[in-house]
Amino acid sequence: MKMVKNQQLVYSCILLFICLIDLSNAARSNPPDDVLEWVQKDDRRFLRANIRVGDLNRTIKFYTEFFGMEVLSRKDFPKVNISNAVIGFGSEETQFVLGLTQHHSAVDKLELGTAFHHFGITTQDIYTMVEKIRAAGGVITREPGPVAPGGTTIYAFVNDPDGYSFELFLRPPTPEPINHICLNVVDIDRSIDFYQKALGMNLLVPKYNNTQEQYTVAMVGYGSNYTQTTVIELQYNYNVTDYTKGNGYAQVAIGTDDVYKSAAAVEQVIQELGGKIIQPPGPIPFIKTKITAFLDSDGFETVLVDN
Ligand SMILES: *[C@@H]1O[C@H](CO)[C@@H](O)[C@H](O)[C@H]1NC(C)=O
Ligand SMILES: *[C@@H]1O[C@H](CO)[C@@H](O)[C@H](O)[C@H]1NC(C)=O
Ligand SMILES: *[C@@H]1O[C@H](CO)[C@@H](O)[C@H](O)[C@H]1NC(C)=O
Ligand SMILES: *[C@@H]1O[C@H](CO)[C@@H](O)[C@H](O)[C@H]1NC(C)=O
Ligand SMILES: *[C@@H]1O[C@H](CO)[C@@H](O)[C@H](O)[C@H]1NC(C)=O
Repeated sequence: MKMVKNQQLVYSCILLFICLIDLSNAARSNPPDDVLEWVQKDDRRFLRANIRVGDLNRTIKFYTEFFGMEVLSRKDFPKVNISNAVIGFGSEETQFVLGLTQHHSAVDKLELGTAFHHFGITTQDIYTMVEKIRAAGGVITREPGPVAPGGTTIYAFVNDPDGYSFELFLRPPTPEPINHICLNVVDIDRSIDFYQKALGMNLLVPKYNNTQEQYTVAMVGYGSNYTQTTVIELQYNYNVTDYTKGNGYAQVAIGTDDVYKSAAAVEQVIQELGGKIIQPPGPIPFIKTKITAFLDSDGFETVLVDN
């Protein structure tokens, strides 16, 4: 009887051991899929896009006077000759905003490059806005008007004093008036795949192929309605395979509940689609906020910031 019990114990132990091995195998093979699934459920939103500007005061004047943005914060760092401002249509606690940086003693010129395309903002009075910009000597690159004759969406393109392009949309008020960032990409399917898998975005506007103007665009973002939330517009221009990054548009920051899992997911998608982790997940010295940063398959930088 004792013998049998011992034997049973041994069998139980062996079974348990096998189960544990199975579990650890499962644990080893599962997390990658788990993090990709987790990314889809993470609490994410667009926080900020950072750009370098030639003259901070001039840019602030333009964005406040003509676009109607307000300065949310402003800081000068005289020791390193840098001035910063955060500007937008409302609090950065709830809205996507722009971060502006001027390097006062920069020896390199501000180069916008060709990869960054434009920002999009929503306005309820596009005609007045464009006329004010024109009257002040601003550059209008597309007059306000419908997409197609008889179309209902009215839009225009203007340049800011550095030459950053802004698409203006005539739309009712939305929670996110800084509505999109448009980036030029060389493989739109790969980019859509990257932003969906690595960043958990939804395809809010499927690929639209404009054969006349020779480009294809798609929009990815969080939420479900591209007019109500900030999106990344991915643009493929026929036959263009090379873009210059310049030093103007720097990166976009996105909030996450876990920078470590986020980085693991990005790392995995990078294996398949290309890209590079440039800042492993962890706290930034002194500030202690946890972040991770990476380049996507086209070399655009994203920073994931702990919520
Ligand atoms: C820029 O604006 C700030 C704050 O309004 C002001 O203190 C500063 O003198 C201005 N700089 C220049 C060069 O005008
Ligand atoms: C800041 O600018 C001043 C004046 O142009 C220059 O003398 C100084 O070396 C600069 N400092 C840094 C850290 O770039
Ligand atoms: C867009 O349409 C053209 C012409 O029909 C086609 O050759 C091309 O492959 C399409 N491009 C994309 C990205 O769908
Ligand atoms: C998006 O939201 C706007 C404003 O509420 C609404 O008019 C529009 O029908 C919505 N679009 C979709 C695709 O749900
Ligand atoms: C782009 O390439 C296609 C063939 O792949 C060609 O038909 C078209 O004319 C080219 N467009 C430009 C702008 O070079």
